[in-house]
Amino acid sequence: MKTYKIALIPGDGIGKDMTAAAWSVLQKVADKHAFGLEGTEFPWSCAFYKVTGSMMPADGIETLRNFDAILLGAVGWPDEVPDSVSLHGLLLPIRKSFVQYANIRPHRLLPGVAGPLKATDFDILCIRENTEGEYSGAGGRVHQNTSDEVAVETSVFTRKGVERILRFAFEQARGRRGKLASVTKSNAQKYSMVFWDDMTRLIATEYPDVEVTSYHIDAMAARMVMAPESLDVVVASNLFGDILTDLGAAIQGGLGFAASANINPDRDLPSMFEPVHGSAPDIAHRGIANPIATVWSAAMMLDHLGERGAAATIMNAIEATTAGGLGTVPGGDRTETITASLLTAI
Ligand code: IPM
Ligand code: MN
Repeated sequence: MKTYKIALIPGDGIGKDMTAAAWSVLQKVADKHAFGLEGTEFPWSCAFYKVTGSMMPADGIETLRNFDAILLGAVGWPDEVPDSVSLHGLLLPIRKSFVQYANIRPHRLLPGVAGPLKATDFDILCIRENTEGEYSGAGGRVHQNTSDEVAVETSVFTRKGVERILRFAFEQARGRRGKLASVTKSNAQKYSMVFWDDMTRLIATEYPDVEVTSYHIDAMAARMVMAPESLDVVVASNLFGDILTDLGAAIQGGLGFAASANINPDRDLPSMFEPVHGSAPDIAHRGIANPIATVWSAAMMLDHLGERGAAATIMNAIEATTAGGLGTVPGGDRTETITASLLTAI
């Protein structure tokens, strides 16, 4: 029997309950599809930081390297640890160190979920560059706390980085409805974004079967609200993709439904799966967070590991649950009730 080694990082706030829910679903589906999942839990979080002074041990990345995949709940507890510290100490280094350059986020309405839009028949796959761009971390502050203070944060777009995310997005479009929207702001940012548009045109010549359109980020934000059904695959830089995928989460009914995969397409290092939502301090420990975003992310993990049938079983369980009216309204049902329904449907 094939057994996958999974690193579990529940993290902070609702991340703990969501990971526990997803793990129970994963175990049931693994039994049904006759493969093994060996989970190892790591307590890396803001609570861990408060005790040790770091979000993960110095050899944390080395430790994770040996796993087949990582399932992460949420990172951040801003009342106690600034987000700029907690995210740069755990989530962002994992994405970068393991070259998880493609962040994939599906946005569609689950059955029974009424989104905020009139449009209901959209199915968008956002592909977000995940290792460079506006999140490069290149920059600094000088003359701090004086009136001469200067803060610089430089976006970094490399040919290698832009080419590989675009190629990945073209491949995804080819496997879906054959439409790709490439998002920039090249009317205002004349170096990096014009470069991205140029690369889009260049790589498009390798994919004559894919219909590609370039949009500016502001127009894309409007399009996702006004005509989401016109979109198939959407590819964008790190920050633009970050913003568009919260919008994507909103049009699919909320963050409780927004799944996410940080993929290393070369597969030489582990990929990481996490919901789009954060630790949600406002509802943490109240038992009302929706586990569907994390469970959907877990299905994406199984899909990435090659367990397509098991991933489909989870998606069917999610759809049966929401079609039955459970977990369709934020805060409407308890985490344990939704999880129990998912388990029954497997
Ligand atoms: C996300 C989150 C992170 C990001 C934050 C927590 C750093 O918003 O995964 O979308 O911006 O990448
Ligand atoms: Mn985000």
